[in-house]
Amino acid sequence: MLLDRLWLRPRRLERVLRAQGLPGRPYRPFTSDAPVKNQQSPMPLGCHDIVPYVVPLLHGAVQEHGRTSVSWNGPVPTVTIVDARLTREVMFGKSGHFEKLRRIRVLSRLLTNGLPRHEGEKWVKHRKVLGRAFHLEKLKVSLMLPAFSSSCQELVTRWMESLASNLEGWCEVDVCPEFLILSADTISRTAFGSSYLEGRRILALQSEQVDRIKASGKMISIPGYIRMREINNEIESILEGIIAKKMQAMQEGESIKCDLLSLMLEPNMGKIDGDGRSVAGMTIEECKMCYFASTETPPTLLAWTMVLLSMHPEWQDRARAEVLGLFGKNQPEYGGFSRLRTVTMILYEVLRFYPPAIAFHRKTYKETRLGGITYPTGVVIEMPLLLIHHDPNIWGVDVHEFRPDRFAEGISKASNDPSAFLPFGWGPRICIGQNFVLFEAKMAVCMILQHFEFELAPTYTHAPHNKKILH
Ligand code: HEM
Repeated sequence: MLLDRLWLRPRRLERVLRAQGLPGRPYRPFTSDAPVKNQQSPMPLGCHDIVPYVVPLLHGAVQEHGRTSVSWNGPVPTVTIVDARLTREVMFGKSGHFEKLRRIRVLSRLLTNGLPRHEGEKWVKHRKVLGRAFHLEKLKVSLMLPAFSSSCQELVTRWMESLASNLEGWCEVDVCPEFLILSADTISRTAFGSSYLEGRRILALQSEQVDRIKASGKMISIPGYIRMREINNEIESILEGIIAKKMQAMQEGESIKCDLLSLMLEPNMGKIDGDGRSVAGMTIEECKMCYFASTETPPTLLAWTMVLLSMHPEWQDRARAEVLGLFGKNQPEYGGFSRLRTVTMILYEVLRFYPPAIAFHRKTYKETRLGGITYPTGVVIEMPLLLIHHDPNIWGVDVHEFRPDRFAEGISKASNDPSAFLPFGWGPRICIGQNFVLFEAKMAVCMILQHFEFELAPTYTHAPHNKKILH
């Protein structure tokens, strides 16, 4: 068994891949192509040629072997493919037999185990319910607008207070924790309406859970595990209480509110999910996932936007002029959002340069043909989005210049491949929260620009690094 797993199987897969001309390092048991740590010295300010810095190993492999090559994660072969068309083909899943990678660590499942982890029937059912809740039309009209702006207003107020306490008219703010609070508040209010305080408690518990999972490494003590189970139980019991209250109110005829929870529950009251559990059970799982997703990636998008607008003040001025022209100093209204051309272009350019998810991964569950190669079962396909977004063949010679106006005619005209911009993925598993997050980001950027001018602190160092997501 062990011989097969560690030697016979990897060698068999290696032979199949090599026979088709795929280059890369030969298999050696007990070794992995572990990501190399970033160089110590930071990058020059204003430089966005980040691929060699963030993924040096991958960069080296592409230089040495070309755009398709094999590396090894223990006994599992990973074929890296740097190709926008093939990436879309895999993500679309039309021809091939690809599945998402399964979460290996049991502990991580304590944190979140919702839609991104599901496959088959269960995924179809959950995707339908969540898709409905996150649909743009619902987000637009809803009572969510005040929820978004209240969270942003609190951030603005906090910063104003810091500013007022400094007589010199400026203050230094660490934007990362600030945007974490903002994103946490936004999802709490939009998901649970009035129960956002309970939501904050969930976020505090989730943060503790993340810290414990990170600290646990490969080993965890029994008291540590017990605490993690306690955290999980507390999160679930808060959610159970919120959901039960909401379902009771709805059964008693409460008009449907436009918080995400109502939208998730409303068409499914009394139904049963793929595992035979009530919809409330499914909703707990998906609410946990929503919290986690909302506090993981949106804060980094906002932080990078602040950094890039500080590095390129001419774009900060242009964006501010647009925002003040549309809304003055008043609270931004939904109607004006579709006319935010400059702000939208800036967010797209930030997502192109610094996409939070820098690569997609899928695994073949059956023999699959892709780009003229036949992949046997059990091969991981890695599609490095970061390299696609920084490819001069796609984006032109100015690929590393901050030029939001490349998106002036829309995403499809920004490069010579109309679908090479993939920060939210592609195909049936495309990010369900993309409208939500862009809405949140636009609201936050507008309100910050209305009230503040900003620049990088003298202590800022430009050292992007990938720790599950790009920071
Ligand atoms: C800047 C912010 C975000 C980025 C860049 C982002 C990016 C992505 C990407 C690339 C995927 C596809 C992954 C894959 O196919 O392997 C994805 C999936 C997903 N995202 Fe996001 N995301 C963001 C925010 C959010 C938010 C705020 C939520 C929810 C509140 C969310 C919920 C999801 C879900 C549920 C999936 C899985 C969909 C499925 O498997 O059917 N995301 N996201």
